Amino acid sequence: MSKIIAVLSGDGIGPEIIAEAVKLLEVLQQSYGLDIQLEEGLIGGVATDATGKPLPDETLQLVKKADAVLLGAVGGPKWEPLPIAIRPEKGLLGLRSELGLFANLRPAILFPELADASTLKPEVVAGLDILIVRELTGGIYFGKPRGVRNLDNGEQQGFNTLVYDTHEIERIAKVGFESAMQRQRKLCSIDKANVLEATELWREIVIEVGKDYPEVQLSHMYVDNAAMQLVRQPKQFDVMVTNNMFGDILSDLASQLTGSIGMLPSASLDANGKGMYEPIHGSAPDIVGQNIANPLATILSVAMLLRYSLQQSELADKVENAVSKVLQSGLRTADIQQDGKTIVNTQEMGDAVVKSLVS
Ligand code: IPM
Ligand code: MG
Repeated sequence: MSKIIAVLSGDGIGPEIIAEAVKLLEVLQQSYGLDIQLEEGLIGGVATDATGKPLPDETLQLVKKADAVLLGAVGGPKWEPLPIAIRPEKGLLGLRSELGLFANLRPAILFPELADASTLKPEVVAGLDILIVRELTGGIYFGKPRGVRNLDNGEQQGFNTLVYDTHEIERIAKVGFESAMQRQRKLCSIDKANVLEATELWREIVIEVGKDYPEVQLSHMYVDNAAMQLVRQPKQFDVMVTNNMFGDILSDLASQLTGSIGMLPSASLDANGKGMYEPIHGSAPDIVGQNIANPLATILSVAMLLRYSLQQSELADKVENAVSKVLQSGLRTADIQQDGKTIVNTQEMGDAVVKSLVS
């Protein structure tokens, strides 16, 4: 039976980069017999414009029946004045929470060809291969109470709650350890246990879960130090596991080590391997409609989709190799441009990956 892939392009450059990923998926269907059915849905600002909701019921039904979700990006200046409850970002957060996608895998891998596209010295980043495992359905993003209230003294007060239950920490810690077992067997848990009780509990539970993984070398780091270490000596890390907000921040930081946020894919998984796949960059309102966005993060997200939700690891390898070959051949989108390389637009980059895949 065909696997259903929900395709949600979203806002900004979303449709431009998703078009390239869809092109690739169609080639995998035609040339490699991949048995999939693509179904499109609305998410984010375009969904609010069309239906009044950033996550319409129809989209929710679609993603629930789908085997995997491919998402572009959400958000943009047009929707910033809207109340938080119907902003595009709420659509994305709603998807994560409704589908129970608690485990967000954000690899930061530096393709050797891009070592000097990073703003860090090549020797600091060459060979970089970090996996950030970010908790995605809890913590301060979802904690209650939250809001803005009026105080008696006439001031207002904004408040959010950082909250984690035992089971939420246990399950993400397990993903961290399991991922480490597939890699270099090093796991660094990031917290702020010197100040925040919620992360003190986090640390205790990670240590407890670690007893089942004696082969994994577990360490702990405060988030401020982790930010510094990521820039100072990033190759000391293998897998990092952390909460929702710290993971949000550290993954943007890690992305820049690799030269461009336009290169990094992500997978957000539930307890059964169903997942949503998206580039970690946003909707990039500044370059919308110019056909210059880098589609490689989305194409690499397709590779993750093939690997984690469709169990097609050979095809996933093929896609990743195709991206490598295209970079080796010297093609670059504007965000990763380097002296002596050929600048191509979004579509040309997508075409080059497809060509390399079928050659
Ligand atoms: C991300 C993004 C989202 C987040 C936004 C768009 C809600 O920054 O996926 O990292 O904060 O999680
Ligand atoms: Mg982010």
